[in-house]
Amino acid sequence: MDKKKIKILLIEDEDFDVRRVKNTIKIFEQSIEILNVVSNGYDAINILKENSELYDLVIMDYQIAGALRGEELIKKIKLIDKSLQIIVITKLTINITDFNFAKRLMEAGAFWYCTKYPGDIDEYIYQPTDFLMSIFNAFEKKKLEKATFVSNKKLIGNVENILEQKKIISISEPMEKLKVNLDRYSGSDINILITGPSGTGKELVAYNIHYRSKRKFENFVPINCGSIPHDLIESEFFGYEKGAFTGANSSKQGLFEVADNGTLFLDEIGELPLNAQVKLLRVIQDGEIEKIGRTKSIKVNVRIIAATNKNLENEVREKRFREDLYYRLNVVPIHLLPLKERLADINHLMKHFLEVYSLDVGKPTPKIDKDVLELFENYDWPGNVRELKNVAQRLIFNCYNEITMEDLENVLIIKKENPQNTNLLDFSKQSKILPLKLMEQNFRKSYFIFVRENSESDADAAVKLGLAPPNFHRMCKELGLK
Ligand SMILES: Nc1ncnc2c1ncn2[C@@H]1O[C@H](COP(=O)(O)OP(=O)(O)OP(=O)(O)O)[C@@H](O)[C@H]1O
Ligand SMILES: [Mg+2]
Repeated sequence: MDKKKIKILLIEDEDFDVRRVKNTIKIFEQSIEILNVVSNGYDAINILKENSELYDLVIMDYQIAGALRGEELIKKIKLIDKSLQIIVITKLTINITDFNFAKRLMEAGAFWYCTKYPGDIDEYIYQPTDFLMSIFNAFEKKKLEKATFVSNKKLIGNVENILEQKKIISISEPMEKLKVNLDRYSGSDINILITGPSGTGKELVAYNIHYRSKRKFENFVPINCGSIPHDLIESEFFGYEKGAFTGANSSKQGLFEVADNGTLFLDEIGELPLNAQVKLLRVIQDGEIEKIGRTKSIKVNVRIIAATNKNLENEVREKRFREDLYYRLNVVPIHLLPLKERLADINHLMKHFLEVYSLDVGKPTPKIDKDVLELFENYDWPGNVRELKNVAQRLIFNCYNEITMEDLENVLIIKKENPQNTNLLDFSKQSKILPLKLMEQNFRKSYFIFVRENSESDADAAVKLGLAPPNFHRMCKELGLK
């Protein structure tokens, strides 16, 4: 069978009309083939149900014998395969200016309809060239619809993959409630502010909202407001045109443009300096951005999800965060509790991550001692799920069949021996000699805390430390300071 030919199923109960259709397409027999002829609707449906893939088009007579015909038959065919295109042939007794009839056929899903020629010309369907052209056009439409269907299926598959990877694991009541609400929030376009201590899953929740929303096939653009140097914020957010300033050798898309029709995730929004807050507010109010070096503003349609581990109300009171912006962002608040306030999740998450990581390295999942489970529940988890995840990973490397209290000492030790307020350089006060790596880490942590306490913002602290803001940010996270 030639794959390139347009394959047709003809539904026609009068031999005379079958002949006319065949005659009409004869001149294009290289590219059009009638694969099968049936005389009633039921046979057509059975054939298509068995293998609709074989056909591109259905040409059907409107007035055939049997109960299944007309609009009902069209709808049934479309249910089997939406991409099958249907051309209807009717008697000339149907008035060709009967717009209602045409409308009904279209609504049922027909591609085109034509009339049979009145009796005096036997050989052809009325207006044979129109008929042929409609066959070719219908075939193009079928190919397009098929391609769209395939790529949509791929996109849906990708989204499902992402959601699987970004699954929110929990059994505690507050988290279960939150998950129910997430579905509701995802359905709308409202701005959301996610708050909660470090490592509680704010970014994870943001991903879940985007990939469950109708924007899921568009970009999700996460941006950490604390890691962009203040003087670059405007160009990062809104982009610039070529030649807008010295050094602008080519134009640059801003993040708002990249996120157009999708979602912008403004992480650590509390770090945004006041002048950038004004600009952000304007975009949210007007739905337009002003690109540097461009006179006309650009319309954007961006959903904003913001997150912070700061208490923004406090920041508003202290005049570090604009109140009007706060209300614009905080249309719906989501608050994530620290692990110590949702005890049920601790061991549930631990078991989950132990399973995942042991599978990764091809080890059996270790059992956990009862004492260990108890200790986990009593431990503070200052780094929340991020810390718990790290601990699980280290446990898998260090343990085999069972996790005991002894194993724990190795992985939780850093937190226990973190002497934040003692002078780290005065070795005489150290209770025991630590490995260099650990000592360095303790020093870094204390020093970072000191520098942050004496800086206006994280960006400022990064400058003082001589670090690029993204590096500073990463190191803070590694040290459990974010
Ligand atoms: N309920 C959860 N189920 C599975 N993984 C989780 C859960 N909560 C958090 N995680 C994981 O823990 C890590 C930290 O989460 P995330 O980055 O979303 O936290 P965060 O609140 O944004 O932290 P930070 O304030 O430090 O930016 C990520 O690897 C995330 O996938
Ligand atoms: Mg985060």
